[in-house]
Amino acid sequence: MSDRIILKLGGSVITDKGADCRVNHAALSGIAADIAVVPATGIVVVHGAGSCGHPEARKYRLDQGVAAGQTEGIAVTHRAVSALNAEVVAALRSAGVQALGVHPLHAGVADKGRLVAFESRHLEKMLALGMVPVIHGDVVMDLSRGACIVSGDQLVRYLAVALKCNRVGLATDVPGVLDGGRVVPEITPQTMYTLQIGNSSYTDVTGGMKGKIDELLGLAAAGTGSDIFEVSRLGDFLAGKDHGGTKVRGG
Ligand code: IPE
Repeated sequence: MSDRIILKLGGSVITDKGADCRVNHAALSGIAADIAVVPATGIVVVHGAGSCGHPEARKYRLDQGVAAGQTEGIAVTHRAVSALNAEVVAALRSAGVQALGVHPLHAGVADKGRLVAFESRHLEKMLALGMVPVIHGDVVMDLSRGACIVSGDQLVRYLAVALKCNRVGLATDVPGVLDGGRVVPEITPQTMYTLQIGNSSYTDVTGGMKGKIDELLGLAAAGTGSDIFEVSRLGDFLAGKDHGGTKVRGG
């Protein structure tokens, strides 16, 4: 079977998380060059929000849901992440990748903060045409709460299953999951409780590294392992080589 890869680009990789929505163009062009040479038949890119979405989501308290008359935050947050998505798509396209932005606000529905539906037939069609869908953490309408934030990591978990991806990679700004400064080579549900995992000091409404691992352990329980590595090792991950990071497995 040929590889179908889902690749998450952390928001801290593609933006400067300490600034007010500053896109890291140098990082994006390096990533685009790595993706442009992948021989894989299918690759889906999912990216986080970093400083283009997290501060807005927090300001409008989207984690607490949205009531009628308080919907401004939906538009403001979606605009911020969509603008970042356009930058990611543009970087990929200038490297020759047939990238196309897809917004979860339009394709997905959530309930109590979790995706309950996400149209994927159009994604299958894009992949069949050799295109690279570029999806992102977004605000999504929520059946119970009005609206919620769906992280890129939650999208990875959902779409890896829906699109039957056999390889899942998460490019971050650290060499892997760190415990006491050292990379943890493998995480399983059994070893998870023995770890001391730190969190980012920047605004992160979706749970930082802990939230990421929870999603990936859920994915591993459904039969798909994943790999967390530093973005500088993206080429190694895409080539199926050792990347020096963390493997999340079902145990
Ligand atoms: C967050 O997505 C989306 C919004 C805040 C709208 P992520 O949670 O995947 O973003 P990063 O990777 O942590 O920045």
